[in-house]
Amino acid sequence: MIIGSNLIFCENLTSTNTRASELLKKNDLPEGTVIHSDFQTAGRGQTSNRWESEKGKNLLISIILYPESVAPGKQFLISMTLSLGICDFIDRHLAGSKVKWPNDIYVKDDKIAGLLIENSIMGETTESAIAGIGFNLNQIKFTDETRNPVSLKMITGMEYDREVSMKQLLSDLDKRYKLLLYGDRKNIRIDYISRLYRFNEKHKYKAGNRIFTGSIKDISDSGILSIENENGKIRGFSFKEIDFVL
Ligand code: BTN
Repeated sequence: MIIGSNLIFCENLTSTNTRASELLKKNDLPEGTVIHSDFQTAGRGQTSNRWESEKGKNLLISIILYPESVAPGKQFLISMTLSLGICDFIDRHLAGSKVKWPNDIYVKDDKIAGLLIENSIMGETTESAIAGIGFNLNQIKFTDETRNPVSLKMITGMEYDREVSMKQLLSDLDKRYKLLLYGDRKNIRIDYISRLYRFNEKHKYKAGNRIFTGSIKDISDSGILSIENENGKIRGFSFKEIDFVL
């Protein structure tokens, strides 16, 4: 086991990602170390958003990885790998979870989990990555700030044991991570695309001030999303260049 080989529980923290980064600077932590908590006073999401999570209800984890064999230009493979691991965990309970590019996990049109991966690059090597995962397990009320949240409990009506769920999630992530390290990487992209939210369907997107209709056709290992517009022209977008119109 790599992911989950060393668990560190922290009671009081701002963010598990921030704590992981502090610990990483001071210590030689084994790969797969997981920092987890019941509550974050300043949980961080993508694009400086806040990550909302009621105390003791959900899974809040940050995993320390040393994915040196993944070149900086192919870093999105890490996100693909972990997203698939989260979907595998959801598959234990219900079918049909999807990955919304670049870092969200959806059930139908609602967000059940988010990933915040912070890489540290040295020259041509990805020295370390802190992979933060917020997974909505048992929370049933969210503030208005959170756009389309959902939890496993809201979908199935069941209460989940957080410890058991965390172990299952870590085991599913570990299996996927080993495929990234030792398996055929082509399959990661194939599996990811098969799980992709709105793949090959016509929907609206916003690029700058322009809203257009298009269809997702591909994703590269560097995370570029290819969308075909209504005139049949395919254009690639990086993270900050495009928004889904939901
Ligand atoms: C997003 O969807 O915007 C990403 C959310 C990531 C949230 C998790 S919760 C555990 C870890 N610590 C943080 O501060 N953020 C990530």
